[in-house]
Amino acid sequence: MLDDLGKMQRTHSCGELRAEDAGKMVMLMGWVARRRDFGPLTFIDLRDRDGITQVVVNEELASEAHAKAKQVRGEYVIGVLGEVVLREEGQKNPKILTGEVEVSAQKIYIFNDARTLPFQLETATSDALAGEDLRLKYRYLDLRRPQLQSNLRLRHQVLQVIRRYMDEQKFTEIETPILIKSTPEGARDYIVPSRIQPGKFFALPQSPQLFKQICMIAGLDKYFQIARCFRDEDLRADRQPEFSQLDVEMSFATTAQVYVLMEGLFQRVFRLVGSELPVPFPRLSYEEALRRFGSDKPDVRFEMELQDISSALEGTTFAPFAAALEAGGEVKALVTKGGAGFSRKALDELQEFVKRYGAGALAWIKLGDEISSSLLKTLGHDVVIKISEAAGAERGDALLIIAGKSKTVAASLGALRVEVARRENLIPENVFAPLWVTEFPMFEYHEEDGRYYAMHHPFTSPLDEDLPLLRRAVEEGETEVLGKIRAKAYDTVVNGIEVAGGSLRNHRRDVQDLVFKALGITPDMARERFGFFLDALEYGTPPHGGIASGIERAMMALTGTDNIRDVMAFPKTASATDLMIDAPGEVDPKQLEELKIKIVK
Ligand code: AMO
Repeated sequence: MLDDLGKMQRTHSCGELRAEDAGKMVMLMGWVARRRDFGPLTFIDLRDRDGITQVVVNEELASEAHAKAKQVRGEYVIGVLGEVVLREEGQKNPKILTGEVEVSAQKIYIFNDARTLPFQLETATSDALAGEDLRLKYRYLDLRRPQLQSNLRLRHQVLQVIRRYMDEQKFTEIETPILIKSTPEGARDYIVPSRIQPGKFFALPQSPQLFKQICMIAGLDKYFQIARCFRDEDLRADRQPEFSQLDVEMSFATTAQVYVLMEGLFQRVFRLVGSELPVPFPRLSYEEALRRFGSDKPDVRFEMELQDISSALEGTTFAPFAAALEAGGEVKALVTKGGAGFSRKALDELQEFVKRYGAGALAWIKLGDEISSSLLKTLGHDVVIKISEAAGAERGDALLIIAGKSKTVAASLGALRVEVARRENLIPENVFAPLWVTEFPMFEYHEEDGRYYAMHHPFTSPLDEDLPLLRRAVEEGETEVLGKIRAKAYDTVVNGIEVAGGSLRNHRRDVQDLVFKALGITPDMARERFGFFLDALEYGTPPHGGIASGIERAMMALTGTDNIRDVMAFPKTASATDLMIDAPGEVDPKQLEELKIKIVK
């Protein structure tokens, strides 16, 4: 028999009671996390979103309650009326906030029962958790875990801080539509068929980019939105098809203003986890970030910068190095402090690791009591020493060396830098290292497609000093200079995570047209896709710019997780499905008929 809630009310949450509350009569309600029986004593760990309180039911003091306590199983929903008592010395649990007290039950109410769970909520370590697919199917159960509960509470606080701060800074929160026309942001669109106009489709926004720029043209001056974005792209551990951005745009903005605004915001947000970010954030140009760290989102909590060792290899005949240098590539090394102890197995694993990033091979030098190296036989002792000196390595260190095209060397050595730091525990904990990466290239060459794409998006403005290059490329057909043009684009990076990205925009129609031309977007294509926007640009567009910060990414940095699904309530899998609601799914043939859509199998 289940009990009714009736008019009963909770007096406290399960995370609230402390030693000072001893003697109070309380009513707690929650889920049974655990029940333990010791003859006449039954213990129940009662859980709600705030924490866990131990309930003790003594057969001698409350026989009816004791009988009821015997009926409850894991995840039953119960109410407990009882007195707060201090636990005896030795029985206290310093690991939980309520650990000094317990509630001695006088009455137990069973509001609902629960089936045996498909997996254990409580495990000794996170590795012991059930497989993620099973947990995603029963997301409502997985969400009962304290870790996910606290992540979602923190996310709520982050959103509150953002709204308060943006309001103080005189920004207006404006909602832009979800059913729109495609905006090119680099990924594929999710599309929605129109019933009223068969054969026509809406696209879901990849971001509110054009709408926020139009808000500036509309004179709204300072816009923000916590916006849902939808991108049909290959998923990774830090990407979801549907995610949220703090989206910001401001009129008459300089990059310095955007930086100050966002630094102030990130400072407040990171105070939520007790961290004071130093401002201003350091700035690194894209070129410098790649050269020193092999990444446009460097984790600067630790050093281990990439060292160019080509000076030590002048005139080398060793084919892999010589070929790389002759072709204008690079030979770079990573110096790992204390790495002389790397085992053969560890080096083999690192070899395999760099191959994933396109590196052909990984050469190594270990400066132990004796020098050992994969290069000793071919290059000889002296050159190996010269390389080590050029890289600034010392006795006890190891050098990991990659040769090849600059892009491949940066990608593979940059990833290796982080991998080695993780393995060797070189990354300090509870440290947040923010920075700006600036002066991104405007255009990026895509080898497979044989053409340039906008690195950020086509509405980004080139640096003033690089505008002549853009003119040359477009007006004189010197397309090879496109790769040299830098943009007024910037990213915020925290601990190697890209938490925000933005740019100053093209407020002048002539410059916007040049960018479209450089991207091979013909006037007809531009008109068909964003004619509305090009028209708007001609009615008094103020200089403007902005940024968008991925809420999940910021949350990942705050909580230190590398799984984006830990910081959102209802995430999708790596294959873009929702296992709980089983979406995407098929639709009723009648719906398809109304939409005039035929499925070709
Ligand atoms: P961008 O595409 O760089 O810029 O996105 C801005 C920020 O959004 C986050 N982000 C994502 N988070 C989770 N899953 C994804 N699939 C995903 N994609 C991006 C990142 C990123 O830095 N309209 C421009 C902004 C602007 O120019 O103002 C834009 O969307 O944190």
